[in-house]
Amino acid sequence: MTASISAARPALSDREETAQRLLASSARKSYDPVVEVDWEAPIPDDKYGMTPEWSTLYGTAYWDEMTDAQRIEVTKHEAASVSGTGLWFEILLMQMLLRDVYSRDKHSRHVQFALTEVGDECRHSVMFARAGEQLGMPGYGPKGPIHQLGKVWGALYRGANAYASVMAAEEILDMMQRDFLRDERVQPITRTVSKIHVLEEARHIRFAREEVARRLDGASWGRLQFERFNTAVTVFFVMKSMIRKDVYTNAGLDGERALREAKNNQHYKDMVRTSGSKLMQFLDSVGLVGGPSKRLYKLVHLL
Ligand SMILES: [Fe+2]
Ligand SMILES: [Fe+2]
Repeated sequence: MTASISAARPALSDREETAQRLLASSARKSYDPVVEVDWEAPIPDDKYGMTPEWSTLYGTAYWDEMTDAQRIEVTKHEAASVSGTGLWFEILLMQMLLRDVYSRDKHSRHVQFALTEVGDECRHSVMFARAGEQLGMPGYGPKGPIHQLGKVWGALYRGANAYASVMAAEEILDMMQRDFLRDERVQPITRTVSKIHVLEEARHIRFAREEVARRLDGASWGRLQFERFNTAVTVFFVMKSMIRKDVYTNAGLDGERALREAKNNQHYKDMVRTSGSKLMQFLDSVGLVGGPSKRLYKLVHLL
């Protein structure tokens, strides 16, 4: 383990107490994007789809040659691809949460918060779909083998690993959206959607982090190896599907050149590593980083 990500194991909390606090917070502040977002507002043509520094092409020779209009267009496609992956993952995690609470006591605050989270995710998925539509983007999200693997994941994953994967995907989206929501160069619709998402996801991340720590407490060496591997595989596929390969040609760019330069883009790799350090610190603190699975995190530049 590198010194930069080692962290102390978080203290275990009371499951019902946490859920009670999160339910109270949801009651105080939740959004209905169908009503809160101005879906009729015009789309300005001088604003980026997302923070340009998060573009997979930012910092490359190709980016320097592009016109402002091309940069704006490609960041719109990349933003739609990121939220398309978010939407795909939300559908999977709703399935996982519902399976997890199926046999538990419905009067418990824990189950009631899990159901509240499913409600949040339903609204988020509609919101992401509408935002992509409003920006005039095609429907993004994983295709082919990753899409098929998601179906298996959605049907099988459970327990600590499911919560760890959910939390990791939520943190990855969160690290980008925190930048988008503050950025005045970005489309108002991306900023509003990001603001709603970051606020409601903070509760989900808290819920999942505590569940992971609780369920892994006292785990055997063998179990830890299994959970490490599964979590790393999920994070790997989420990161790999974040920007779909056809965003570049869809934005009118030279697809081959864009893919080549994006693949070697050191600036992007550094952004991911820096912003993902909070997630990696947490995974490390509960014993989920180590052994051969570390290689998968390195491949997606999180380590
Ligand atoms: Fe969400
Ligand atoms: Fe969430």
